[in-house]
Amino acid sequence: MANVSVLRGAEPALPAPLLQVDGVSLEYATATRRVRATHRVSFDVHRADRFVLLGASGCGKSSLLKAVAGFVPPREGEIRLDGRRVEGPGPDRIVVFQEFDQLPPWKTVLANVMFPLRTARRLGKAEARDLAMDVLAKVGLADFAGAYPHELSGGMKQRVAIARALAMQPKVLLMDEPFAALDALTRRRMQEELLALWEQVRFTLLFVTHSIEEALVVGNRILVLSPHPGRVRAELNSPGAGVAGTPAFQAQAQRIHDLLFEVPAAAPASPDAAPLALRA
Ligand SMILES: Nc1ncnc2c1ncn2[C@@H]1O[C@H](COP(=O)(O)OP(=O)(O)O)[C@@H](O)[C@H]1O
Ligand SMILES: [Mg+2]
Repeated sequence: MANVSVLRGAEPALPAPLLQVDGVSLEYATATRRVRATHRVSFDVHRADRFVLLGASGCGKSSLLKAVAGFVPPREGEIRLDGRRVEGPGPDRIVVFQEFDQLPPWKTVLANVMFPLRTARRLGKAEARDLAMDVLAKVGLADFAGAYPHELSGGMKQRVAIARALAMQPKVLLMDEPFAALDALTRRRMQEELLALWEQVRFTLLFVTHSIEEALVVGNRILVLSPHPGRVRAELNSPGAGVAGTPAFQAQAQRIHDLLFEVPAAAPASPDAAPLALRA
């Protein structure tokens, strides 16, 4: 397991991680039993990382994201943002959902982006408008400020949602399979747009997917989780954006595939290690 702990001694210290997930086990209590969603998961996210949680359906990716957002308290371990323990939701962590379920349709694009600036950040009208227009320009939607969501494509709605989140200047942007409902071509375009936006703004991203290819395209670091309950199987660096189809990309995809589908030879037989299908 590649969870390298950094020694903080006399040597010049690396900048402290922005987000630390430290031995986090998550559980849900149902009427009859406890369901363990993740088991002692640890990872560090640094500023401007595009950190991807990758694993089969049911391995606890969404649960981890919700825990970071502050909606699910860890059963064991802790989550720290800028060194401070996460104990609930806050404007420093914003979740972007899938394109179809997030923009109130009765508000224009501009009003959608301004709304949380006015309510959560309590900016004045002019200031909120200036900031919203600034961010809309960054995501290439300045000309659509007066449009309503139904006049936009799925991809554009997704961009408005990202603009709205970025305008709030969160420390971490959280995305849970944001492109899963899109067709393959739109999905690829959205991945590219997300990367272009990242080049411009350098936000910190925690991104969940069950797609190996998407993980490699979007992420600079990838945490590979075992099936239910999710445990860290490996942490990998991604070769970088825009290289899909190259031999290096294929090799990395194959390596991840093997990590996801094969029980490590040294692992003791365990009931947790049984179902390995990566369901879409
Ligand atoms: N609200 C809940 N109540 C009970 N069990 C849950 C709840 N949410 C998720 N789970 C269970 O926790 C496990 C992880 O779920 P989830 O985090 O949604 O996985 P993923 O996002 O990787 O598909 C699954 O076994 C799922 O059934
Ligand atoms: Mg999920």
